[in-house]
Amino acid sequence: MTIALPGGASRNAGPILYGPEIKAVTDALLAGHYGHGPITERFETDLANYLGVPDVVCVATGTVAMQLALLTAGIGPGDEVIVPSLTFCSTIQAIIATGANPVFIEVDKSSLCVRADDILAAVTSTTRAVMPVLYSGRAVDLTGIQEHLNDSGIHIIEDAAQAFGSNLDGRLVGTNRRIMTCFSFGPMKNLTCGEGGAIVPRTPEQAEKLRRMRTTGIAQTLAQRAEATTYDVIGFGVRAHLQSMNAAIGSVQLANFDQARMIRQQLWHRYAAALADLPNVELTDVDIDHTVPFNCVVQIPDRNRIFHQMRAAGIGVGVHYPPNHLQPAFEQWTTSLPATEEIGQRILTLPFHPSLSSDDIDRVVAALHDALAG
Ligand SMILES: Cc1ncc(COP(=O)(O)O)c(C=O)c1O
Repeated sequence: MTIALPGGASRNAGPILYGPEIKAVTDALLAGHYGHGPITERFETDLANYLGVPDVVCVATGTVAMQLALLTAGIGPGDEVIVPSLTFCSTIQAIIATGANPVFIEVDKSSLCVRADDILAAVTSTTRAVMPVLYSGRAVDLTGIQEHLNDSGIHIIEDAAQAFGSNLDGRLVGTNRRIMTCFSFGPMKNLTCGEGGAIVPRTPEQAEKLRRMRTTGIAQTLAQRAEATTYDVIGFGVRAHLQSMNAAIGSVQLANFDQARMIRQQLWHRYAAALADLPNVELTDVDIDHTVPFNCVVQIPDRNRIFHQMRAAGIGVGVHYPPNHLQPAFEQWTTSLPATEEIGQRILTLPFHPSLSSDDIDRVVAALHDALAG
């Protein structure tokens, strides 16, 4: 039994709830587990087993996951981090929080993901990291350049906020040992904790550092601290652990993830079939057989008018994302990115969540058809 979220076509995004999440949160509360604790640690183990990796470090959000991953890689003031402009602003905030400079690059017009050639063209002597964004959940293939980047001392830290469960030629996102992967488990994501995030580190040393940084830089574990009169603060840290109640939601979500994958892929296929007959509508190429799609983004002419017309018709459309190189806060790093600027004028996110029915999709596509007709 799953719980349908309210909203139908008027809602832009949202997770699937299976029901036991509610009991899991109640059980955590009744057992007295609130902050970091055994429930969080079990969720980390479940995630590591699911991915088949030695370590997963859970944190409070996907944004802080990226910030801590960058810091763990030693990224700091004066370093350059190559990143697509087309992403949620938090990717950029995570970079500038370390003191590093974002170097904005273009994305491919059909997948909306970065291309290896654009990354290589942006590399300078001060490049220390590359942050591909797995747009709509699609894995980014850097196989041809990842060794070269790593050998040049450049870290690859992927923003896989939208991509939990996707794979690249059968290899799950998060399992490439050359790449640090950051997931979000926020309210709209393929797998939700309510709010949450995780990092898949590349080495045990990185895992240890991340665990320390998420708990204010204290060297001792919680169990060790319970037995001692003092503790040692041995480095920078934030207070960004994943709370037990959120981890309890995540464990239920993970146990049922195959269903989420299937529903999201089916929804995407329904949209692809229904949109095929609409002229001037380009559906993002998500490589559906390997992707657990996070959203459904189309490119259309006259986007702003169509956005407002569909909203007036009660359809929960959105825009993901206004390009970051044009944002006031990031002005000092701005550059000319003609393709991204054009995409930014053309993208429209259609309602996409597991509670959407076939009738809802027909309604969305009919409203898009009417709006395109003027
Ligand atoms: C591409 C992308 N990056 C980063 C984030 C940030 O994740 P969180 O909201 O968990 O901080 C999100 C989600 O909002 C996202 O979609």
